[in-house]
Amino acid sequence: MKIENSVHIPVLVKEVLEYLNIRPGAKLIDATINGGGHTKAILEKYSDVKILGIEWDPVIFENCKLKIENLSQNLILVNDSYVNLKNIVEKYQFEPDGILFDLGLSSWHYEESGRGFSFRKNEILDMRFNPEVEHESAADIVNKYSENDLRELISSLGEEQFAGNIAKNIIRTRREKPIIMTDELVNIISQSVPEWYKHRKIHFATKTFQALRVAVNDELGNVRKGILAAIDVLKPGGRLVVISFQGLEDKIVKEIFKEKTREGIVEFVIKGTVRPTWEEQKTNPRSRSAKMKVVQKI
Ligand SMILES: C[S@@+](CC[C@H](N)C(=O)[O-])C[C@H]1O[C@@H](n2cnc3c(N)ncnc32)[C@H](O)[C@@H]1O
Repeated sequence: MKIENSVHIPVLVKEVLEYLNIRPGAKLIDATINGGGHTKAILEKYSDVKILGIEWDPVIFENCKLKIENLSQNLILVNDSYVNLKNIVEKYQFEPDGILFDLGLSSWHYEESGRGFSFRKNEILDMRFNPEVEHESAADIVNKYSENDLRELISSLGEEQFAGNIAKNIIRTRREKPIIMTDELVNIISQSVPEWYKHRKIHFATKTFQALRVAVNDELGNVRKGILAAIDVLKPGGRLVVISFQGLEDKIVKEIFKEKTREGIVEFVIKGTVRPTWEEQKTNPRSRSAKMKVVQKI
């Protein structure tokens, strides 16, 4: 499948370049390379830098290869999950001076993937980042989980206040027939929330869709494993830059950074969080929720 129309605009590019503290000949890992937005910006400025790029989604990976493989001989592209960072680093004998995580999903996932990430398109409820891996899809969760488990999942991973009603109505609907398409789920959510909830800036289905996506891909577990592995493999003096778009992810990053600071393994390069400038937020609305945190290995 070719990626035709969607353009994923990289966020906080200037800040990523600054905080990675890139030296001549440095080895960097882009743990979520997607279309290579950040990688391209790095290579344009530092042509002798070596980059190992990781992407879990096989469709995005193939397109990324076509687009940027020829940019530099110093580029290695790997189709895997960053959870396997340690094995990847060993396999390619790549000791990194810096690692970037730009978490979450690509604009392509919403706009073109056809996997049901967007509540604005009527597609099969899949939501797997890597459909080649055999694991639960969003439709499996919606049709198999108990009412309690659904309520807990939508409430904890989506922070959705009407999780109880939504779970109850999912169970009621699926007694008649399985819930397969995004539109069916949107209708259920619409019947489960009050009218005022449908007139807010954030779409009433956002949180439920987010909860399902995070659960399907075990995103919080992956972030934890990936960040811990990154701290492990980083060279002393190397920088770890993490951009998150979601409160729960950001919390995990903050907790690991604090824990590893207490253990004397890393130190904070900046206290708190770097946010996109007002200018960036205006030109790229997706950047509005971006939060960047940076540590350095001791
Ligand atoms: C926000 S995008 C990164 C954008 C990229 N920095 C750019 O500027 O083009 C996040 C990417 O991470 C990928 N991804 C999600 N989970 C992953 C994982 N566990 N391992 C590797 N890649 C992952 C997604 O498929 C998506 O392409």
